[in-house]
Amino acid sequence: MVNKKQKFAGLIWMFALLSVAFASAAPAAQPAPRSNGLAQTPPVGWSSWNNFGDDINEQIVIETIDAMIANGMRDAGYVFVNLDDGWQRYKGARRDHPLEFDPKKFPRGISYLADYAHQRGMKLGIYSGPGQTTCAGYTGSEGHEAEDARMFANWGVDHLKYDSCCSHREAPKEELQKIFRTMSNALMTQKHGIVLHACHCGWGDIWEWAAGLGVNHWRIGQDISDDFNYPGNREQYYFDVLDQLDRGVGLEKYAGPGHWNDYDMLIVGLDGQSKQLVGTGASNIEYRTHFSLWAMVSSPMLVGADVRKLDQYSLETLTNKEIVALNQDPAGNIAHKVRDDGDLEVFARELADGSHAVLLLNRGAATATMTFSPRADLQAPMDRYSIRDLWKHRDLGTYDIPFTTEVQSHEARVFRIRQLATSANGRSVSDAAEQELAR
Ligand code: GLA
Repeated sequence: MVNKKQKFAGLIWMFALLSVAFASAAPAAQPAPRSNGLAQTPPVGWSSWNNFGDDINEQIVIETIDAMIANGMRDAGYVFVNLDDGWQRYKGARRDHPLEFDPKKFPRGISYLADYAHQRGMKLGIYSGPGQTTCAGYTGSEGHEAEDARMFANWGVDHLKYDSCCSHREAPKEELQKIFRTMSNALMTQKHGIVLHACHCGWGDIWEWAAGLGVNHWRIGQDISDDFNYPGNREQYYFDVLDQLDRGVGLEKYAGPGHWNDYDMLIVGLDGQSKQLVGTGASNIEYRTHFSLWAMVSSPMLVGADVRKLDQYSLETLTNKEIVALNQDPAGNIAHKVRDDGDLEVFARELADGSHAVLLLNRGAATATMTFSPRADLQAPMDRYSIRDLWKHRDLGTYDIPFTTEVQSHEARVFRIRQLATSANGRSVSDAAEQELAR
């Protein structure tokens, strides 16, 4: 005989067994994706690391801000001024030292610089990492994430590069997700919005999961060197411009407004002279190509050079507003490689207003003739279209056949093409409108 008590116990057991079976069959619950609503377009500005390394101070930052205003960079969209590693007072483990700014380098503190930037329509960024120490050996944030996030927010900091590639190089994905989630959550509880860059050198398939944690951008590769196309990896580590570009092919789908693939800082203007970064520099054409490519794939664009000393050509490259506009296009579509003929490649993206940006890249050693066809390359039935050259700042006219042009060695030509509607009599609507105006 089974009494009531035994029947009840049996039911409880059955329920427990069923819930265990159900739990193991059901997929593990994923935390809901988070977003801080920031960086709807990629951050654009300057970062201290690639030229200065940890040899930074208040005067450099102030002069950098002043120079970016005077030389037109701020007005072209370069608003972030980011301190990288080396602003901290102490080298060594966090368990042995507090995290403070170095009063010798920054006598008036970080909030002074944040105010200085904000008063001029710019933003200030800072750097830390999830380990006991950062990559350059300064105190990290491990175990003090909430406290540090509060301190950064109180200082008025607008961007944090949170760098795990030295402290967590071999860490499994779960651990990486935990460290970035911890800092992301800590930042999101602050009233002051702080853009989060999760810097992990493109390891751990970070593009697959970082956006879900509220991260705004993540490096897709190892550090860039000051080279356009160095054979292999310099020092068996660094990526050059074309390495970063190739690394990004296939990752386009992970990026969009608020969460971007980061191809690393711009090397334009370093000219092989950096105190910090390895590399022998690139030609003017190659730097321009690098800049055009970063714009097409909507990578964050943080200039690494000393902006107080940019030559005219580099400045013209960086302040080409038509190219910056591609990077900042609100649709946030990332350019795809739509054709690959060996050394000759075509990249394209659709822009918010329905026009397309097209980039013709010649990786080869000699000038080449390249052809672009909207029908073949974009699968867009554009029977008539207009073309504008975004480096020459010139409208090239109306086309109803594929567009053919010369591209120099290592050059990228960038065009904006716009479909023209065709009227019943076969003339393009815009031609008709122009004739109307001419009369
Ligand atoms: C790593 C990063 C660099 C820079 C340094 C600072 O190497 O990849 O971009 O931030 O750390 O120590």
